[in-house]
Amino acid sequence: MTDPHAEIDVDLDVQEVLLAASQHNIPKLRQLIRSNNSGAENPANVKDTETGYSPLHAAIAACEPDQDEAEQANGVVNGHRDGDEGQSEELMSGRETVKFLLQEGAIWNDLDNNDETPGCMARRLGLTELYDLMVDAGVRAELLLNRLEGYEILGDDDEEEVDVEDDANIVAEQQGDLATGEETHESTIPTTTTTTQEQDPEPNVSNVRYLHSNLTFQDDRLLDDDQNGVMMAWETEIMSKTARKLLPSQGLRVLNIGHGMGIVDGFFQEQSPSVHHIVEAHAEVVATMKQKGWHEKPGVVIHEGRWQDILPKLVEQGEMFDAIYYDTFAESYADFREFLSEQVIGLLDTDGLWSFFNGMGADRQISYDVYQKVVEMDVFEAGFDVSWEDIPVPPLEGEWSGVRRRYWVVDNYRLPICKYMD
Ligand SMILES: C[S@@+](CC[C@H](N)C(=O)[O-])C[C@H]1O[C@@H](n2cnc3c(N)ncnc32)[C@H](O)[C@@H]1O
Repeated sequence: MTDPHAEIDVDLDVQEVLLAASQHNIPKLRQLIRSNNSGAENPANVKDTETGYSPLHAAIAACEPDQDEAEQANGVVNGHRDGDEGQSEELMSGRETVKFLLQEGAIWNDLDNNDETPGCMARRLGLTELYDLMVDAGVRAELLLNRLEGYEILGDDDEEEVDVEDDANIVAEQQGDLATGEETHESTIPTTTTTTQEQDPEPNVSNVRYLHSNLTFQDDRLLDDDQNGVMMAWETEIMSKTARKLLPSQGLRVLNIGHGMGIVDGFFQEQSPSVHHIVEAHAEVVATMKQKGWHEKPGVVIHEGRWQDILPKLVEQGEMFDAIYYDTFAESYADFREFLSEQVIGLLDTDGLWSFFNGMGADRQISYDVYQKVVEMDVFEAGFDVSWEDIPVPPLEGEWSGVRRRYWVVDNYRLPICKYMD
């Protein structure tokens, strides 16, 4: 039988941690975390039952500016004011508290009852500096996780490797892994979930499932069996701008991975490419392409299959392209990283450009910002530079009826263009 007094004590301890966080009282927090009477695995991650606040939420909420400060902070967000000027003491102690909590293992993307991560809250309150701290924390967690996942598991007799595996799972559980689990089209990453490795042991399981599902082709969308939006017509402007940037002149060689509704391929055709290869893995999409006569269009070569199988063959055949575009569905970040770090280099000519549909984490601004940085680092590590252009996304109300998940929430699409480093 549980002792009601013990429960009350635990609750009081939780409240004490949250209070110390909201008062930015680091010595007290340190003491509470070290003594850990809250019964939590890590007191830096306790939660208020009413608000769902974690200590990070509490520390950030306490920095909420009053009216005057809010107006000034707005200036900072819009870039009119130097970020350090006029900073209140509250904000400085808040910053130190946030840093302290993160060092103590606080989860960067825990959700409160308002469906906000601490970073979402900082952004809503116009606390740019705290928002940036939270983005950096997200980047660190994701990078660490991606790196740890990259280690091969050698077996029980190799303790070091197994420890690394365990570490990856622990980080995934603690840090609300963005990079594992099932994905949908654009947002290849389910944001702010706590999906763990155990739930998705095979990296391609969702892609394989998708490739066996029946598709519904409508004028303005392509849906899978589960009503996920594989592709939607509201992305046309993005496709048009991407195609124009990748093929600035006529007669170039282009490789497109993922045909979908054929929107981007239509724009590529307008540039009269000399060579236009399309890799498409879903049999129904391929059948539709043929019905529409894509195989007879100038320069077009259709490769039916997964890019993972097709691209190595193209490399072997010595095919080279001036432009490559990657936009698949239900693949993991690990797939994308394999594409950019292993495949592009064998297929892209020296002056070539490549791009990808940048939809990772687009259902939450902080996740989108985190993944922009993560991708930038991986692209850089693979030997490419990337430039970004913001494209405003029109209001999408009304687009989602009949679509299982609203995969796009952020205001601007950040269009990436990558090229070899000088
Ligand atoms: C988002 S749609 C592409 C939309 C396209 N950019 C357009 O403008 O219409 C993704 C496409 O990638 C295909 N696909 C998914 N996984 C793939 C893989 N591993 N290899 C090749 N194609 C894949 C899907 O069948 C789908 O047709």
